Amino acid sequence: MASTTTLTVALLIVSTTASRDPTTDASGQLLRDLLLAASTTPALTWEVTETLIVPDDTQAIQDAVVRWADVEKVNLVVTTGGTGFAISDGTPEAVRPLLGKEAPGLVHAMLSTSLKITPYAMMARPVAGVRAHTLIVTLPGSPKGAKENLSCLLPLLPHACIQCSGLTSSRALHSGGTPALEARSGLPPSSSTPSTHHHHHHDHPTPRAHTANTLNGPVTSRHRASPYPLLTVSAATALIAAETTPTDIVPRPVGPSLVGHILAEDVTAPHPIPAFRASIVDGYAVVHTDGPGVYPVVSVSHASPATPTAPLLPGQAARITTGAPLPAGATAVVMVEDTELVRATPDSSEELEVRILASDLRPGENIREIGSDVAEGTVVLPRGSAISAVGGEIGLLASVGRRDVRVRRKPVVAVLSTGDEVVPHDREGVLRAGEIRDTNRPALLSAIAASGFPTVDLGIVADAAGELERVLRAGLEGADVVVTTGGVSMGELDLLKPTVEQALGGSVVFGRVAMKPGKPTTFATVPVAVPGSKEGEEKKKKKLLFALPGNPASAIVTYHLFVLPALRAMVGMVPAGLPVVRVVLQEDVRLDERPEYHRVRIAAGGGDDGDGRLRAWSTGGQRSSRVGSAGGANGVLVLPARGECGLKVELLSGIRTRYPLSS
Ligand SMILES: *[C@@H]1O[C@H](CO)[C@@H](O)[C@H](O)[C@H]1NC(C)=O
Repeated sequence: MASTTTLTVALLIVSTTASRDPTTDASGQLLRDLLLAASTTPALTWEVTETLIVPDDTQAIQDAVVRWADVEKVNLVVTTGGTGFAISDGTPEAVRPLLGKEAPGLVHAMLSTSLKITPYAMMARPVAGVRAHTLIVTLPGSPKGAKENLSCLLPLLPHACIQCSGLTSSRALHSGGTPALEARSGLPPSSSTPSTHHHHHHDHPTPRAHTANTLNGPVTSRHRASPYPLLTVSAATALIAAETTPTDIVPRPVGPSLVGHILAEDVTAPHPIPAFRASIVDGYAVVHTDGPGVYPVVSVSHASPATPTAPLLPGQAARITTGAPLPAGATAVVMVEDTELVRATPDSSEELEVRILASDLRPGENIREIGSDVAEGTVVLPRGSAISAVGGEIGLLASVGRRDVRVRRKPVVAVLSTGDEVVPHDREGVLRAGEIRDTNRPALLSAIAASGFPTVDLGIVADAAGELERVLRAGLEGADVVVTTGGVSMGELDLLKPTVEQALGGSVVFGRVAMKPGKPTTFATVPVAVPGSKEGEEKKKKKLLFALPGNPASAIVTYHLFVLPALRAMVGMVPAGLPVVRVVLQEDVRLDERPEYHRVRIAAGGGDDGDGRLRAWSTGGQRSSRVGSAGGANGVLVLPARGECGLKVELLSGIRTRYPLSS
């Protein structure tokens, strides 16, 4: 039997009506049926992995398409609706900026086929193209139009999807490769079988050179509106997570430097604990069947490694301290409180005889048997355990005699500030006009180090392309993650994105996020040669670059929301995001047009009611340039955009809160 190629499809129904009442949607089922019917050729199956209904809303459309293309990496995204002339129709405008390559041929095919049927096709505005490894096609909203437009593309879609997926023909098409597929689709053979592997060296053909400003171009050629789609915070977080890979596994000594690591192995007990039968109390080891009476004290057992005491015989008692090993033959320990001294040595230094008062002793009473705390081979700390600063885990590791354990290496984070106007925070003298102190670098270096990650200080880099490139290269070589601040918003001299894309061969994964503060937050990946790999066959590793906005509050908030979770994910922390807690807001806050991350101080509620609930106080004016808004903050309220409801809080060094908004 020939094997089958499965191509995955995600369907996006763009309709404000259907988003309110899904039963009004007729296109979804029709398109799924059509794809199912097209799956009958033995070598090919279309699998619809997700159908989503969204309103006519640019953001909602872009979020879905970006997630499917960049995170889920489906082969085909089909949208239906929003391609006409109505005021609300904006699907092509939402999709077009997401395309790395446009596919005018597919558009032409839809239009020319349609024009033969109806002149109304003149008013169709479809777009089609490729993002990363995903083909995207926009269909009209009418079920019939959507079905027929898709039908006209369908014979070619498998070929197109396979080519842009980067699958090699041998892997994708076991039964005869592309020519066989073409033959089955009734297509004439293409002149040469495409060698797809030349085309997929960029994982993100996402906005590339044609979208970033060019390096060294005149100011008049710069973009006047950002070419980067505005992502939601959750879409941005998902994209970062998709690019973040765990670091390598290394041995680390058991001690203070282990705190903050995540175990990459199951730690088992090599020996039973306790390793010997030990007394739980201070008292006398006896043979439990002896019963009450006067007994000679024949030996003493202390909790110290001593020569083994002589075996205990019936009719004898042995003085024993807590934790001390039991003499052989003893079957129970009587607490000292349940005994009386009968006779001592003349100098009173040692007991000779005691009276045992306790009756009906049970065998094993007051004895910790071998392995009763931890049996040999038991997993005492499973893989994935976090080594906390509380001490419990270090204690456990020490108890089983571990000198070192295997953990994920902590990523090294390099930090730099950009801008000609930025001067070191400790430069003496007053600031001259136009100068600002570098607050971000010391703030971020401290925050990163305090979270337990090693840092590299790359200093302040002037606004000069060559200089930025040189420092970034050095940073990317020596560190796993580079964090820059400044130089990313439209108004600033934005050298960062073109330097990443054009000079370093990296990919900007996203360049704008719908949030306040932090809108220009940029995230990129840069392939860096692995040292030691041979010329020609050199291995490359993708490193992460976070370009945070230059405003101090923006830098701190976006560090905690985006960078810290990525660092935590790299060492294997689950969940990597910061904790969410409920708080009682102590004052009214005003909602913004953007989702806002409002800096707050969170503390356990004292006060008269003393209910122990967490309370949150605003840190005051939230302008992103106002560094004071982050002072004293240990969390952020996640305020929804005006008009949305539901309120959430998160952040700084760990606290994150969810709180329902009543009005
Ligand atoms: C394709 O969609 C357009 C509307 O956008 C419609 O006018 C046309 O008839 C459709 N084509 C076919 C072949 O049905």
